[in-house]
Amino acid sequence: MSNPDNIASARAHSNIAFIKYWGNRDHKLRLPANSSLSMNLADLHTRTTVEWSHTLRADSLTINGAPAGDIPLARVRGHLEALRRRLNTDLHAHVESRNNFPVGTGIASSASAFAALTLAAVAAYGAKFEERELSALARLGSGSAARSIPAGFVEWRAGDNHESSYAETFAHSNHWDLIDVIAIVSRRHKRVGSSAGHRTADTSALQRARVESAAGRLRDVKTAIEARDFERFARIVEEDSNLMHAVMMTSKPPLFYWQPLSLAIMDSVRRMREQETLQVCYTLDAGPNVHCICLAADAPAVAARLRAISPEIDIMQSGVGGGARVIPLMGA
Ligand code: PMV
Repeated sequence: MSNPDNIASARAHSNIAFIKYWGNRDHKLRLPANSSLSMNLADLHTRTTVEWSHTLRADSLTINGAPAGDIPLARVRGHLEALRRRLNTDLHAHVESRNNFPVGTGIASSASAFAALTLAAVAAYGAKFEERELSALARLGSGSAARSIPAGFVEWRAGDNHESSYAETFAHSNHWDLIDVIAIVSRRHKRVGSSAGHRTADTSALQRARVESAAGRLRDVKTAIEARDFERFARIVEEDSNLMHAVMMTSKPPLFYWQPLSLAIMDSVRRMREQETLQVCYTLDAGPNVHCICLAADAPAVAARLRAISPEIDIMQSGVGGGARVIPLMGA
């Protein structure tokens, strides 16, 4: 170990995918069925401290100040196991993780959590890995975490083995002033999480068509982002989200993440764009909350329209965020 203190903190942002990752070629390595593209969310992040210990007999984990339950603990231990193999150590770690977004918002924390955990664990050990290796390692904890290592607009190339499946910055955070206005529809935990969902993707007759056409959408969305062409961007982002949810709904067993309120919001977003010329489009992950991606100038109007749909909707907002980084040690 080349860090005498054995301890480091790191911060990573959550991300929202414009071209979705759904289904794996290799579940263990989390090699995805298709390449994907996302933007980091500046205002949603996880901060994690890892301390490698010469005395601990097992890894321990606290999340937002409380001891973690068995399921998150098992998943973090599994990831630390992979990191131990790479760092060539048998030390155990104490991990403290804090999200700045409230738990139970239905906003996934696995991307920011596994990106922050990976970087903090490597830094605490005193190792220095290239960004692409950190991204590939983060992927082993949660696929989308690969995209929370680099900054800004990020592309994760599917690759065909561990080393070649990593994410890279496609455009920097200041390239395009987009805001994700998130309509929180439900705060309940999802019944079927994404790890289980990836395993059933291939049972849908539509998955193959989605995967085969994903490269074309990825190319088109990159062109739209490069040119800051919102109309083109909106068309592709909505189509890609609809395709992923069509696969989910036709898997065996079917997964329905949308709720009636999600559909009402999607409809309203389309009307904002078509009738009010607001530059906004929607995308949904493995849950009912609707991410309304819009130009910064339109964000206040979009948030106001969303609030008017129903008092049940809570709103969170974020612009484009940077990459994962080591930060000064967090207080206990
Ligand atoms: O990283 P995971 O296993 O939580 O999968 C994320 C899947 C989606 O959020 C639905 C899509 C994506 O590309 O982020």
